[in-house]
Amino acid sequence: NDLGVVAVGFSGGQCKAGVEAAPMALIESGLLDQLQEDLTYNVHYDNVVHDYADLIPASDPDHRGMKKPRAVSAVTQKLSQQVYEHAKQGKMVLTLGGDHSIAIGTISGTAKAIRERLGREIAVIWVDAHADINIPEESPSGNIHGMPVAFLTGLAKEEKKDIFGWLEKDQLLNVNKLVYIGLRDVDRGEKRILREHGIKAFSMHDIDRHGIGRVVEMALAHIGNDTPIHLSFDVDALDPQWAPSTGTPVRGGLTLREGDFICECVHETGNLVAMDLVEVNPSLEATGASDTIRTGCSLVRSALGDTLL
Ligand code: ARG
Ligand code: MN
Ligand code: MN
Ligand code: MN
Repeated sequence: NDLGVVAVGFSGGQCKAGVEAAPMALIESGLLDQLQEDLTYNVHYDNVVHDYADLIPASDPDHRGMKKPRAVSAVTQKLSQQVYEHAKQGKMVLTLGGDHSIAIGTISGTAKAIRERLGREIAVIWVDAHADINIPEESPSGNIHGMPVAFLTGLAKEEKKDIFGWLEKDQLLNVNKLVYIGLRDVDRGEKRILREHGIKAFSMHDIDRHGIGRVVEMALAHIGNDTPIHLSFDVDALDPQWAPSTGTPVRGGLTLREGDFICECVHETGNLVAMDLVEVNPSLEATGASDTIRTGCSLVRSALGDTLL
């Protein structure tokens, strides 16, 4: 029952300051104590919110339209190693972000560790309003937090070692092991990618049609039982009513219960190996920051086994 925790105070995958403060806010509100005391995890946390300041280059010009490419690359390469170290020892890994670009580090780390430890490919459940699968050239913003899935699946490639060229094959994710839940703001190029590669995606429309119960059932059926799961949860999947403090809020999202329900079902599979919680930004919509932090804590607790009864 060992849990490795990595606190990532990094905001360079997008342009708004404040997401780097989320890990401390989540921890100060008691999240890790609850995991240790109530859910009886043996929590392994180095007691630092990493800002990776020593890895951020002084000069970092745009490359293929990407903003701060070397900084995001260097930070995610280091984070990949940190997550890998936890996961290869058989610990569950919880990463508190930070913006969603950090998933390049977390998922590559889990993918490699699980391949080595269990000889298995991981599946990723990506819960988000956004698909985050933009190819650099097609990104409307140049923000790398809108691109992590493209790099993780190898759909976006870059030779330069200092701009994600460090990603090796054993760190990548198979597109048919990826499933989205909660989508409602997908860019034109992303829609084409999802269609062309037959990537499984459940939008808010699907949730309205079938209900969250059936959607989670279908999502889990797609990845198959007995597949190790990395859950990457962007708090903006929830409606701004429940998570207002986030950089790219989109109305018409999941309720708090729907978000928790997804996490509870993933826990029930017994196959969860890693979770990311990202994009909590306490400095935006500051009056809603404590609600957003509470929401984030609730999602993590649900995924790690908290039950209502
Ligand atoms: N699709 C938009 C973009 O590429 C928004 C991405 C938002 N991503 C996120 N992790 N919140 O810029
Ligand atoms: Mn998002
Ligand atoms: Mn958009
Ligand atoms: Mn995201």
